[in-house]
Amino acid sequence: MKILIFGASGFIGQNLVDELLPAGHEIITVSRNKAKLNKIFDRTEKVDLNNKEEVLSAIQDSNAIINLSGATLARPWTKSRKEKIKISRIGFSQKIIDLIRESGHTPDVFLQGSAVGYYGDRKEEALPEEASPGKGFLPDIVRDWEGILVNSGLTCRKVLLRTSLVLGKSKGILPVIALPVRLFFGGHFGNGRQWFPWIHIKDEVRAIRFAMENDKINGPINLVSPGIVRQKEFMKILAAVMHRPDWFHVPASLLKALMGRMVKEMLLLSQKVLPEKLQQAGFEFEYKELEETLKITLK
Ligand SMILES: NC(=O)c1ccc[n+]([C@@H]2O[C@H](COP(=O)([O-])OP(=O)(O)OC[C@H]3O[C@@H](n4cnc5c(N)ncnc54)[C@H](OP(=O)(O)O)[C@@H]3O)[C@@H](O)[C@H]2O)c1
Repeated sequence: MKILIFGASGFIGQNLVDELLPAGHEIITVSRNKAKLNKIFDRTEKVDLNNKEEVLSAIQDSNAIINLSGATLARPWTKSRKEKIKISRIGFSQKIIDLIRESGHTPDVFLQGSAVGYYGDRKEEALPEEASPGKGFLPDIVRDWEGILVNSGLTCRKVLLRTSLVLGKSKGILPVIALPVRLFFGGHFGNGRQWFPWIHIKDEVRAIRFAMENDKINGPINLVSPGIVRQKEFMKILAAVMHRPDWFHVPASLLKALMGRMVKEMLLLSQKVLPEKLQQAGFEFEYKELEETLKITLK
């Protein structure tokens, strides 16, 4: 297939290109900064997002479109950051859909980045794809972000990639939470009983490829390992794998005072998310067990 990827320069995008190229797919990468693409990729076509003619022609040339764009959530949620988080997702998806319409060519499939943030804080409730959306800043953003594609009127297959915390050696959440552990300050946040959904980067990109190539997959899919654990368990296993103590406990009140609402909606919430649709469709996770996953990832 010929695949056009927006946000290809990011953590998931770069790993996805590494998954798709050896499988024989042709890739067109798009960026707000084409020079960045030239540094990262040598075997992809490259398109400058600011050059409309280039983008329209790339759309006309592709069978699949994948959108992995979005400003980072890992900064304090000031008013302007929240606006950026929103525009780079909802506004950007709308922009791509408008460009598709203008190009006169609809791809066979559109895979849209999304997040398990959709579900909000749900304590012990099991969350397959048909669970209702949660409440709060992130659930509202994710619901509206998904809605842009769902209600677009595009006639192609539409897949929503509800991604959990993606584990990789040098990018994403793992280096961030591994740092205090390395410095002997490892431990859990809040009461630690919150379910902590994760997926290894290799399974994340294998699942995106699986969904792209499998015509029967439609709508939201949860990208989360079946080996989900509670946050306390996650930090305990991480500390053991890193041969560090797991004695520290950051109370919820301190975290909230230091980092505000972002913490409440990212670190203290409980989300028992299940990969129901992927498993029913026959997707086999390679990384199902946390201890083994962390050993392989951090070695
Ligand atoms: N990593 C995770 O754990 C995780 C978990 C859940 C959901 N997700 C979602 O999955 C998607 C990809 O995640 P990732 O970890 O690969 O993200 P990432 O490394 O931060 O990359 C995202 C890409 O989005 C583009 N981008 C950044 N700011 C933008 C803006 N203001 N407007 C338009 N584009 C912008 C950038 O591409 P250019 O600079 O090249 O244009 C960047 O390479 C994101 O939407 C993220 O919310 C990720």
